[in-house]
Amino acid sequence: MNKLVAGNWKMFGLSADLPEIAAIAEQSRAYPAVDVALCVPAILIERAVRAAPGFVIGAQDVHEAPYGAHTGSVSAGMLLDAGAHLTIVGHSERREFQRESDADVKAKAETARGCGLDVILCVGESLAVRVSGQAVATVVAQLDASLPAALDGPAWLAVAYEPIWAIGTGKVPTTAEIGEMHAALRARLAERFGSAGAAVRILYGGSVKAANAAEIFAVADVDGALVGGASLKAVDFIPIVAAAAVEGGAAIA
Ligand code: PGA
Repeated sequence: MNKLVAGNWKMFGLSADLPEIAAIAEQSRAYPAVDVALCVPAILIERAVRAAPGFVIGAQDVHEAPYGAHTGSVSAGMLLDAGAHLTIVGHSERREFQRESDADVKAKAETARGCGLDVILCVGESLAVRVSGQAVATVVAQLDASLPAALDGPAWLAVAYEPIWAIGTGKVPTTAEIGEMHAALRARLAERFGSAGAAVRILYGGSVKAANAAEIFAVADVDGALVGGASLKAVDFIPIVAAAAVEGGAAIA
């Protein structure tokens, strides 16, 4: 499967940024061996899809119910209707600030899939857990409790390992730490879902930049990246896509 490089625009993005989305879409075409997506604010999805026809636009969260009396929330059906192809679930900023539990994340993943959205499911440990030496056990347990009950095939799901202490901080785990975590997540996915689980793409996220992308993509079991700050501008994001193309075996040199 191609590497997946997904941008997470978080709470950034206005109409004025649509040309930047169009530029990212246009420049991504040079790397057909990489799957590229941008997860933008829900209210920008429809305009982003229009600004970048054929490019994969995603959401950053979805409600766990397909519809209902949930003031202020956005359903999977609404995201699809707006033109989204995928959604992030369980980002640490939502787990922390919106108090989302593993059970919530699991329900969101299942509802999104049921409605036809692909899913990027995030897991990751705090600095305290990393320092305590419990990172792998903690994150594998978090994955276990957040995964959907069934996996009919690997293509719709990606897992993003995002150490909370690496998000927006410029700090990155060592390649050995990334490799250890991704191998453990791969093993757990295979245990749960057999060959389909083993084929689920595992992304790394947390301060991925042009300067460190190639090194991270070269780590075994790293199948792509979830990129925050460096996804806002084509000039920062496209070199990350280019690095994924090289490490994906589709060198353009
Ligand atoms: P960052 O964010 O690349 O800005 O560290 C990553 C994320 O939160 O997905």
